[in-house]
Amino acid sequence: MRTDLCDRLGTEFPIFAFSHCRDVVAAVSRAGGFGVLGAVTLTPEQLATDLAWIDEQVGDKPYGVDVVIPQNDAGAQDDDPEALRQKLLKEIPEEHFRFADQILREHGVPELPEGDFHAGLFTRSTSTTARLHVAEALKHPNVKLIANALGAPPKDLLDEIHAAGRLVVGLCGSVQHAVRHAAAGVDVIVAQGAEGGGHTGYVGSVVLWPQVVQAVAPIPVLAAGGIGHGSQIAAALSVGAEGVWTGTLWLATEESEMTSAQRRALVAADSRDAVITRSTTGKRNRLLKSAWTEAWEDPEAPDPLGLPYQDLVSGEAVTRLQRYPEAAPEVHITPAGQVTGQIKQIRRAADVVVELAEQYVGAGERLAKLNERLGPDSDASR
Ligand SMILES: Cc1cc2nc3c(=O)[nH]c(=O)nc-3n(C[C@H](O)[C@H](O)[C@H](O)COP(=O)(O)O)c2cc1C
Repeated sequence: MRTDLCDRLGTEFPIFAFSHCRDVVAAVSRAGGFGVLGAVTLTPEQLATDLAWIDEQVGDKPYGVDVVIPQNDAGAQDDDPEALRQKLLKEIPEEHFRFADQILREHGVPELPEGDFHAGLFTRSTSTTARLHVAEALKHPNVKLIANALGAPPKDLLDEIHAAGRLVVGLCGSVQHAVRHAAAGVDVIVAQGAEGGGHTGYVGSVVLWPQVVQAVAPIPVLAAGGIGHGSQIAAALSVGAEGVWTGTLWLATEESEMTSAQRRALVAADSRDAVITRSTTGKRNRLLKSAWTEAWEDPEAPDPLGLPYQDLVSGEAVTRLQRYPEAAPEVHITPAGQVTGQIKQIRRAADVVVELAEQYVGAGERLAKLNERLGPDSDASR
């Protein structure tokens, strides 16, 4: 399964593993895959610590960093992240904070101790923070690519990343977005089908992948959304993708930072339990159904705000639920895709990489057998 992109990036398998957990990133890169650390939940200082730790773990293996820069956040920029946060907070109706808090209070989730740092205390999903993330990432030579969750970064940032000799990766959920990212100068495009975890579009993977491959050729495409088995990697490579970009799979690993409640929910979940909600970031996001997502569906609930406002609304809840996971296991905020229905146990990340490669070989053997059955004289073999 070694593709040209593997050679460009110095990785053995074209299996890209997105994770917010540094342990997963390091374990996957060490095992021959390509770990990508999601920076959006980290302050720039925390990112610096995590990248230094990953550098120590991976030796000469490559890895990547993923940031979140909206296509247009002109109204939400400031050189000073704290000044920006204060400005944004003033624009958020009190009702939204009250509603988020009420969900947790009704389920008996304790408040955070006074002065405790939480995810709502910095402005995630803004170019202000993402620029600091990119500046930090470029200090680390093993960071071979910078991905932007929301497509092409602004031109000056794209040029800065290229000047540092790294690849720029843009995620997309539609052919139109892919074409736009290609025109903006992105080196690799991740085509994420609607079944994927996190921010996601409307078109399913098997329909989206070949269209994007065709539309942006010769730019390499990574297929995302619903990969949980090596046979799905074979399907992705067969339509011309140069690799797969995976997320949900790594939540169910020993190395992931999921709480015990989230792990149980992931293993128990059916594919239909991975629902679309705007309750965490304001954009269409696929999460495991929980009392949190259900509450925001209530007709009496306030309409979720846009990005980055809703991120600030949900920020404290994210930290509270991580801090007190057993207080109310029915409430959790867990981005996950439909592939959760394929996940039946918690595994070591390195074992998952090896198993995917073995399953891929198995899929190839099955297809080879079918081809043999065609025989030299059959119409279909000509
Ligand atoms: C828990 C979780 C958090 C995610 N957060 C981000 C993110 O911050 N940035 C990003 O580019 N993609 C994010 N994604 C999407 C992944 O990068 C990836 O495209 C997606 O998980 C692929 O679909 P899959 O979940 O079916 O494997 C997230 C996915 C999950 C499951």
